[in-house]
Amino acid sequence: MTKIISIANQKGGVGKTTTTINLATSLSAINKTVLLVDADPQGNASTGIGITYEERVPSLYDLIIKRELDEGAIKKTIVPNLSIISANTNLAAAELELTSVEKREFVLADILLKANKFDFILIDCPPALGLLTINSLVASNSVIVPLQSEFFALEGMSSLVNTIQLIKENFNPKLNVEGILLTMVDKRNTLSSLVEKDVREHFGEIVYKTTIPRNIKISEAPSHGKPAIIYDVNCSGSMAYIGLAREIMNKQG
Ligand SMILES: Nc1ncnc2c1ncn2[C@@H]1O[C@H](COP(=O)(O)OP(=O)(O)O)[C@@H](O)[C@H]1O
Ligand SMILES: [Mg+2]
Repeated sequence: MTKIISIANQKGGVGKTTTTINLATSLSAINKTVLLVDADPQGNASTGIGITYEERVPSLYDLIIKRELDEGAIKKTIVPNLSIISANTNLAAAELELTSVEKREFVLADILLKANKFDFILIDCPPALGLLTINSLVASNSVIVPLQSEFFALEGMSSLVNTIQLIKENFNPKLNVEGILLTMVDKRNTLSSLVEKDVREHFGEIVYKTTIPRNIKISEAPSHGKPAIIYDVNCSGSMAYIGLAREIMNKQG
């Protein structure tokens, strides 16, 4: 059984892509086969894992247009056990083109049905609640919501929670929240600690015990086309993502 997880939050810069790449790498390190799906037209996950623009054919956009999985779109990465369906700026057009297709919410779900040889599929969502994110959530078993530990962390959470609820009711009854992940935590910063306390009071058990610290190596890694876990496995950020993978695996039972 393939478990499909969306990494979603309509806010940009909260750590979706970083979480997708490093969680995917951590899961592959414990011998799980993982497919990363880059569903953001910015293609940051593709770049961050070292996929050149020339290699992005076919890209997710081409699959969406054909509404069919082309095995050639599944590329191997530098990480053993980790493959990717990449994205380029063409994908921005899909947001518009999808509006006029039949059962437009199910296009990605249909495509991923055939990608059933993986243990996990992680979908890096764009920073919007448009059709690409809706398609990701409809295709998924669960969703991880990264929250940046700063003052406006909870802003927008009610619309995200509403969207998840609407998708559950209308398109995908099995969808649940896998967990909420606090990112860019700075333990020396009082505000960061207050935000963490607030989020835990508000959302309780679904907030991961693991938090991701603000860590320079994490932000450097993408420019080298490597997951932080390969760039520097011993840095605090890498260790945190490995801990997150462990926490997620323990929750699966
Ligand atoms: N734990 C962290 N420590 C330091 N920088 C981080 C951390 N997580 C993410 N970043 C940086 O913050 C920026 C936004 O992160 P990103 O994962 O791209 O967010 P999103 O995909 O939600 O837009 C990127 O430059 C990334 O390298
Ligand atoms: Mg991103």
